[in-house]
Amino acid sequence: MTNQDIFAHKSKSWDMKSRRVQNAKSIADYILKNIKLTKDMHIMDFGAGTGLLSYFLSNDVGKVTALDNSQSMLEVFREKAYMFNSLIEILELDLTQNIPDNIYFDGIVSSMTMHHIQDIKDMLNKMYHMLPKGGFIALADLDKEDGTFHSDNIGVFHYGFDRDELKKIAQKVGFRDVQFETVNTIKKPHREFSVFLMIAKK
Ligand SMILES: C[S@@+](CC[C@H](N)C(=O)[O-])C[C@H]1O[C@@H](n2cnc3c(N)ncnc32)[C@H](O)[C@@H]1O
Repeated sequence: MTNQDIFAHKSKSWDMKSRRVQNAKSIADYILKNIKLTKDMHIMDFGAGTGLLSYFLSNDVGKVTALDNSQSMLEVFREKAYMFNSLIEILELDLTQNIPDNIYFDGIVSSMTMHHIQDIKDMLNKMYHMLPKGGFIALADLDKEDGTFHSDNIGVFHYGFDRDELKKIAQKVGFRDVQFETVNTIKKPHREFSVFLMIAKK
């Protein structure tokens, strides 16, 4: 993985696409319906970007750590941080690299980031070790697609995911109660793409 910020040319206008906002809202609504969040919880938004998902969850938790390796996306996040209803910590970090020992969260959420991660088992394993027993992951991404979701597939390691394969990986890592739900359909001019949310517990 290079240190190139592949989102630098997109960050300023990221939130202008209403389908992105609506996607994050749909994911957040499903998380809120299915996971009991409380004001004493500290969650991490993996690949938080400009904070679309974090924003919709911030009413219901005490603290959100927005972790991302894109400086430009996090700059946009920082500009909006005053609008959040929780404490915010911004962490510029590439989670595929070595990570500090002492980062722990009650839960980890993520929207549309896992397809940028080459080694899914390694990433789920890292997440597992950042959680207490009973902690949760809630990860949203595309179902298997034909490679036409992105106009440019630089930095895309997976053309969506097969739910059964992902479930097996999560279970191998140690997660239990792995469940999937379709939370959104993204309509593009040439076709539609479904988005799943995988929820599991440690
Ligand atoms: C498609 S964007 C999604 C942003 C946001 N979650 C949303 O739904 O609008 C993917 C994000 O994941 C981040 N990302 C990709 N690989 C990463 C890594 N290894 N560590 C941390 N963040 C990463 C990118 O910088 C980018 O902000």
